[in-house]
Amino acid sequence: MGEREGLKQILKLMKDRTLREKTLDIISNPKIKIAGRLYSGLPIETSPAGLVRHHGYPGGFIEHIVATSKLALTLCDIITQVYGGKVNRDFVVSGIILHDIFKPLTYETDGKGYSISHLGEYLDHLSLITAELIRRGFPLDLIHIVCAHHGGQAGPTWPRTIEALICHLADQTDSQLNGQAIRAAHSLLRKATGEDLILLTSKEAFEIIHSKKVEGLKGVIKARKKIERRRKLR
Ligand SMILES: [Fe+2]
Ligand SMILES: [Fe+2]
Repeated sequence: MGEREGLKQILKLMKDRTLREKTLDIISNPKIKIAGRLYSGLPIETSPAGLVRHHGYPGGFIEHIVATSKLALTLCDIITQVYGGKVNRDFVVSGIILHDIFKPLTYETDGKGYSISHLGEYLDHLSLITAELIRRGFPLDLIHIVCAHHGGQAGPTWPRTIEALICHLADQTDSQLNGQAIRAAHSLLRKATGEDLILLTSKEAFEIIHSKKVEGLKGVIKARKKIERRRKLR
Protein backbone atom coordinates (compact mmCIF):
# COMPACT_ATOMS: atom_id res chain seq x y z
CA MET A 1 0.00 0.00 0.00
CA GLY A 2 1.41 3.41 -1.01
CA GLU A 3 1.86 6.09 1.62
CA ARG A 4 -0.81 8.36 0.17
CA GLU A 5 -3.06 5.26 0.19
CA GLY A 6 -2.50 5.08 3.98
CA LEU A 7 -4.07 8.53 4.28
CA LYS A 8 -6.97 7.48 2.07
CA GLN A 9 -7.60 4.47 4.35
CA ILE A 10 -7.90 6.82 7.32
CA LEU A 11 -10.28 8.99 5.28
CA LYS A 12 -12.56 5.99 4.76
CA LEU A 13 -13.47 6.26 8.46
CA MET A 14 -15.42 9.43 7.63
CA LYS A 15 -19.19 9.17 7.23
CA ASP A 16 -19.91 12.69 5.95
CA ARG A 17 -19.48 12.22 2.19
CA THR A 18 -19.19 15.90 1.29
CA LEU A 19 -16.48 16.57 3.90
CA ARG A 20 -14.69 13.35 2.93
CA GLU A 21 -14.59 14.31 -0.74
CA LYS A 22 -13.47 17.86 0.02
CA THR A 23 -10.66 16.46 2.22
CA LEU A 24 -9.66 13.90 -0.42
CA ASP A 25 -9.51 16.62 -3.05
CA ILE A 26 -6.81 18.46 -1.06
CA ILE A 27 -4.67 15.41 -0.24
CA SER A 28 -4.82 14.26 -3.88
CA ASN A 29 -3.39 17.56 -5.03
CA PRO A 30 -1.83 19.50 -2.12
CA LYS A 31 -1.01 22.76 -3.91
CA ILE A 32 -1.88 26.39 -3.33
CA LYS A 33 -2.26 29.23 -5.82
CA ILE A 34 -1.18 32.67 -4.63
CA ALA A 35 -1.37 35.69 -6.94
CA GLY A 36 -1.54 33.43 -9.99
CA ARG A 37 1.48 31.33 -8.98
CA LEU A 38 1.05 27.65 -8.10
CA TYR A 39 3.16 26.33 -5.21
CA SER A 40 3.57 22.56 -4.93
CA GLY A 41 6.50 21.79 -2.58
CA LEU A 42 7.85 18.33 -1.68
CA PRO A 43 5.78 15.18 -2.42
CA ILE A 44 3.79 14.26 0.69
CA GLU A 45 5.08 10.65 0.45
CA THR A 46 8.69 11.67 1.05
CA SER A 47 8.36 14.95 2.95
CA PRO A 48 9.45 15.31 6.57
CA ALA A 49 6.92 16.78 9.05
CA GLY A 50 9.49 19.04 10.68
CA LEU A 51 13.03 20.27 10.23
CA VAL A 52 14.35 20.22 13.78
CA ARG A 53 11.83 19.32 16.48
CA HIS A 54 10.16 16.13 15.16
CA HIS A 55 9.79 13.79 12.12
CA GLY A 56 12.66 15.51 10.27
CA TYR A 57 13.40 12.64 7.87
CA PRO A 58 12.00 11.33 4.54
CA GLY A 59 8.51 9.86 5.11
CA GLY A 60 8.18 11.66 8.45
CA PHE A 61 5.11 13.57 7.28
CA ILE A 62 2.99 10.46 6.58
CA GLU A 63 4.23 8.77 9.79
CA HIS A 64 3.16 11.83 11.78
CA ILE A 65 -0.34 11.88 10.24
CA VAL A 66 -0.89 8.13 10.73
CA ALA A 67 0.35 8.20 14.36
CA THR A 68 -1.61 11.36 15.18
CA SER A 69 -4.83 9.86 13.71
CA LYS A 70 -4.47 6.82 15.95
CA LEU A 71 -3.90 8.98 19.02
CA ALA A 72 -6.85 11.24 18.13
CA LEU A 73 -9.23 8.32 17.58
CA THR A 74 -8.19 6.84 20.93
CA LEU A 75 -8.96 10.20 22.57
CA CYS A 76 -12.40 10.15 20.86
CA ASP A 77 -13.04 6.71 22.44
CA ILE A 78 -11.96 7.93 25.88
CA ILE A 79 -14.24 10.96 25.68
CA THR A 80 -17.29 8.95 24.57
CA GLN A 81 -16.71 5.70 26.50
CA VAL A 82 -15.15 6.94 29.74
CA TYR A 83 -16.42 10.50 30.10
CA GLY A 84 -19.76 10.14 28.29
CA GLY A 85 -19.06 13.12 26.01
CA LYS A 86 -19.98 13.61 22.38
CA VAL A 87 -17.45 13.95 19.55
CA ASN A 88 -17.79 14.54 15.83
CA ARG A 89 -15.26 11.98 14.52
CA ASP A 90 -15.53 13.22 10.96
CA PHE A 91 -14.21 16.62 12.00
CA VAL A 92 -11.41 14.93 13.98
CA VAL A 93 -10.32 12.67 11.08
CA SER A 94 -10.47 15.44 8.49
CA GLY A 95 -8.74 17.86 10.88
CA ILE A 96 -5.83 15.48 11.50
CA ILE A 97 -5.37 14.70 7.82
CA LEU A 98 -5.38 18.37 6.86
CA HIS A 99 -3.68 20.06 9.81
CA ASP A 100 -0.13 19.88 8.37
CA ILE A 101 -0.96 19.13 4.72
CA PHE A 102 0.80 22.30 3.50
CA LYS A 103 3.96 21.67 5.54
CA PRO A 104 5.62 20.01 2.50
CA LEU A 105 5.07 23.31 0.65
CA THR A 106 7.22 25.08 3.20
CA TYR A 107 10.25 22.78 2.75
CA GLU A 108 12.78 22.12 0.02
CA THR A 109 15.64 19.66 -0.35
CA ASP A 110 19.07 19.61 -1.99
CA GLY A 111 19.01 15.79 -1.90
CA LYS A 112 21.07 15.66 1.32
CA GLY A 113 18.95 17.58 3.81
CA TYR A 114 15.96 19.88 4.17
CA SER A 115 15.51 23.63 4.50
CA ILE A 116 12.72 26.22 4.39
CA SER A 117 11.33 27.00 0.94
CA HIS A 118 10.76 30.52 -0.35
CA LEU A 119 7.03 30.16 0.39
CA GLY A 120 7.83 28.80 3.88
CA GLU A 121 9.93 31.86 4.68
CA TYR A 122 6.93 34.08 3.92
CA LEU A 123 4.03 32.01 5.33
CA ASP A 124 3.71 29.15 7.84
CA HIS A 125 1.81 25.91 7.08
CA LEU A 126 -1.00 26.83 9.45
CA SER A 127 -1.78 30.17 7.78
CA LEU A 128 -1.61 28.55 4.34
CA ILE A 129 -4.07 25.74 5.06
CA THR A 130 -6.41 28.00 7.04
CA ALA A 131 -6.63 30.37 4.05
CA GLU A 132 -7.15 27.50 1.60
CA LEU A 133 -9.93 25.91 3.70
CA ILE A 134 -11.75 29.26 3.88
CA ARG A 135 -11.35 29.68 0.10
CA ARG A 136 -12.76 26.18 -0.49
CA GLY A 137 -15.80 26.73 1.77
CA PHE A 138 -14.95 24.18 4.51
CA PRO A 139 -17.13 24.25 7.67
CA LEU A 140 -16.04 26.71 10.37
CA ASP A 141 -15.60 23.81 12.87
CA LEU A 142 -13.00 22.23 10.60
CA ILE A 143 -11.19 25.51 9.92
CA HIS A 144 -11.04 26.10 13.68
CA ILE A 145 -9.47 22.65 14.30
CA VAL A 146 -6.71 23.38 11.81
CA CYS A 147 -6.18 26.95 12.99
CA ALA A 148 -5.98 25.89 16.66
CA HIS A 149 -3.80 22.78 16.30
CA HIS A 150 -0.66 24.45 17.73
CA GLY A 151 -2.62 25.79 20.72
CA GLY A 152 -2.78 29.45 21.73
CA GLN A 153 0.83 29.76 22.87
CA ALA A 154 2.46 28.65 19.63
CA GLY A 155 -0.43 29.45 17.27
CA PRO A 156 -3.13 32.08 16.63
CA THR A 157 -5.90 30.61 18.82
CA TRP A 158 -6.65 28.10 21.58
CA PRO A 159 -8.82 25.02 20.82
CA ARG A 160 -12.42 25.96 21.70
CA THR A 161 -14.22 22.75 20.71
CA ILE A 162 -13.71 19.15 21.90
CA GLU A 163 -12.65 18.16 18.37
CA ALA A 164 -10.04 20.95 18.20
CA LEU A 165 -8.74 20.00 21.67
CA ILE A 166 -8.40 16.34 20.61
CA CYS A 167 -6.46 17.27 17.47
CA HIS A 168 -4.20 19.68 19.37
CA LEU A 169 -3.37 17.13 22.08
CA ALA A 170 -2.84 14.27 19.61
CA ASP A 171 -0.58 16.47 17.46
CA GLN A 172 1.44 17.62 20.46
CA THR A 173 1.75 14.09 21.86
CA ASP A 174 3.03 12.56 18.63
CA SER A 175 5.45 15.45 18.01
CA GLN A 176 6.88 15.03 21.50
CA LEU A 177 6.99 11.23 21.33
CA ASN A 178 8.91 11.40 18.07
CA GLY A 179 11.13 14.36 18.96
CA GLN A 180 12.12 13.04 22.37
CA ALA A 181 12.90 9.53 21.05
CA ILE A 182 15.09 10.96 18.30
CA ARG A 183 16.91 13.32 20.67
CA ALA A 184 17.50 10.42 23.10
CA ALA A 185 18.87 8.22 20.29
CA HIS A 186 21.18 11.03 19.11
CA SER A 187 22.51 11.46 22.60
CA LEU A 188 23.14 7.69 22.94
CA LEU A 189 24.90 7.66 19.56
CA ARG A 190 27.14 10.55 20.59
CA LYS A 191 27.92 8.85 23.88
CA ALA A 192 28.67 5.46 22.31
CA THR A 193 30.29 6.43 19.01
CA GLY A 194 31.14 10.12 19.29
CA GLU A 195 28.89 11.24 16.43
CA ASP A 196 25.28 11.56 15.23
CA LEU A 197 23.64 9.80 12.30
CA ILE A 198 22.06 12.22 9.82
CA LEU A 199 18.30 12.12 9.13
CA LEU A 200 17.71 9.58 11.89
CA THR A 201 14.23 8.07 11.48
CA SER A 202 11.90 7.19 14.33
CA LYS A 203 12.27 3.47 13.57
CA GLU A 204 16.07 3.78 13.81
CA ALA A 205 15.74 5.86 16.99
CA PHE A 206 13.57 3.26 18.71
CA GLU A 207 16.00 0.54 17.57
CA ILE A 208 18.92 2.42 19.16
CA ILE A 209 17.02 3.04 22.41
CA HIS A 210 16.08 -0.64 22.61
CA SER A 211 19.66 -1.76 21.90
CA LYS A 212 20.87 0.35 24.86
CA LYS A 213 18.34 -1.36 27.12
CA VAL A 214 19.49 -4.82 26.02
CA GLU A 215 23.28 -4.44 25.75
CA GLY A 216 24.17 -0.97 27.00
CA LEU A 217 26.44 1.29 24.92
CA LYS A 218 27.91 -1.80 23.21
CA GLY A 219 24.42 -2.48 21.87
CA VAL A 220 24.22 1.10 20.56
CA ILE A 221 27.47 0.62 18.60
CA LYS A 222 26.09 -2.62 17.10
CA ALA A 223 22.75 -0.98 16.24
CA ARG A 224 24.56 1.89 14.52
CA LYS A 225 26.56 -0.55 12.35
CA LYS A 226 23.36 -2.42 11.44
CA ILE A 227 21.59 0.83 10.49
CA GLU A 228 24.55 1.99 8.38
CA ARG A 229 24.66 -1.35 6.53
CA ARG A 230 20.91 -1.15 5.83
CA ARG A 231 21.22 2.42 4.58
CA LYS A 232 23.97 1.39 2.12
CA LEU A 233 21.71 -1.31 0.65
CA ARG A 234 18.90 1.19 -0.09
FE1 LIG B 1 1.46 22.02 12.56
FE1 LIG C 1 1.27 18.09 13.22
